[in-house]
Amino acid sequence: MRAIAYDRHGRAGQVLRLSEQPAPAGPAAGQVRVRVLSRPVHPGDLAGVEGFPGVPRQRFATPRIPGLEGMGVIETVGDGVRELRAGQRVAFFPVPGAWSELVTVPADLVVPVPEGVGDETAALMLVNPLTLLSLLRAVEDAQHGQAGPVVQTAAGSSVGKLVGAAALRHGIPLVNLVRSATGAQALRQRFPGLPTISTADADWRTQVKDATGGRGAQVVLDAVGGSLTGELAGLLADGGTLIAYGGLGLGSTPLESLALTPRALTVRGTSVLQWTASCTPGERAEDVAFAARLAATAPELFEVAAGYDLADFAQAVDHARRPGKSGTVLLTSPAS
Ligand SMILES: NC(=O)c1ccc[n+]([C@@H]2O[C@H](COP(=O)([O-])OP(=O)(O)OC[C@H]3O[C@@H](n4cnc5c(N)ncnc54)[C@H](OP(=O)(O)O)[C@@H]3O)[C@@H](O)[C@H]2O)c1
Repeated sequence: MRAIAYDRHGRAGQVLRLSEQPAPAGPAAGQVRVRVLSRPVHPGDLAGVEGFPGVPRQRFATPRIPGLEGMGVIETVGDGVRELRAGQRVAFFPVPGAWSELVTVPADLVVPVPEGVGDETAALMLVNPLTLLSLLRAVEDAQHGQAGPVVQTAAGSSVGKLVGAAALRHGIPLVNLVRSATGAQALRQRFPGLPTISTADADWRTQVKDATGGRGAQVVLDAVGGSLTGELAGLLADGGTLIAYGGLGLGSTPLESLALTPRALTVRGTSVLQWTASCTPGERAEDVAFAARLAATAPELFEVAAGYDLADFAQAVDHARRPGKSGTVLLTSPAS
């Protein structure tokens, strides 16, 4: 089978290679074998290939096949698996090695694709909605029952748009931050009901202050980090919470510079990688049902930027990193 692999960490365009690999063993009891048709190129996948610069302790062992999420068709069902059958379309997460043509997956990590949900939407059906749920829970925890203004960075990202839609649905007073005037214009068109501010404006901090009623934000949801972290802590009202969930930006910010103690600020992280460990099987089933419902009822929230065959991974990676891209890039492979 074909797979994208890498032997050492580095820029994805330089270290990834198309390889021929033996098909995975199995399926053993309780597993299914899935022929993968489509999988996303998430920013986190690329950060993993790069070896999580700045946090080398998080590095994966190499050689390795990236990817944790995807969709495909079940080829073979292992002993004891009753609720799934060969030929069924399924999504899966978290399954290491999703950037290959075949994966063997524990049956409890496989989710049947609802009728009417297309393959492209199904390939994105789990990670981003589950991330949305973890962010909404973190915001709720930070609010202690008293909802105040929430600011989010990288608001034009796929996750950011899910947050925007959820804010409108739940009445969360959200302020969107993006890094360019064109990004701000596009997001204002999509969410006319939400203030959107570009950090390219010289007075963006004042604009945020005004948009948060002069008090500052109760919560900042941040996917950028790096040297922006200090600015973001400055947007918080005293007692506020910065929730970090991505590292798109460059640079770093010393913890001591954030005035955590005098201003009683909280900084915390959240990761969908903790989801399997932190939820009970019942909670996981509810979260997955939410994701499947969202895919079925709001496919426009699962925008695809473009699809590339596995062999064209270099173009896919390049597109995934392109400034101004809207939606998620998919890597595809044929059904047989
Ligand atoms: N913690 C978790 O469990 C988890 C799970 C899923 C995703 N994430 C994180 O969520 C974030 C968004 O993921 P996604 O898949 O939704 O992304 P995406 O659709 O690929 O969009 C990326 C967005 O980030 C913006 N961006 C890129 N570099 C930036 C920078 N240096 N400063 C400001 N904005 C920047 C881009 O803005 P332009 O339009 O201007 O190019 C674009 O809107 C990523 O950080 C990802 O790692 C975290």
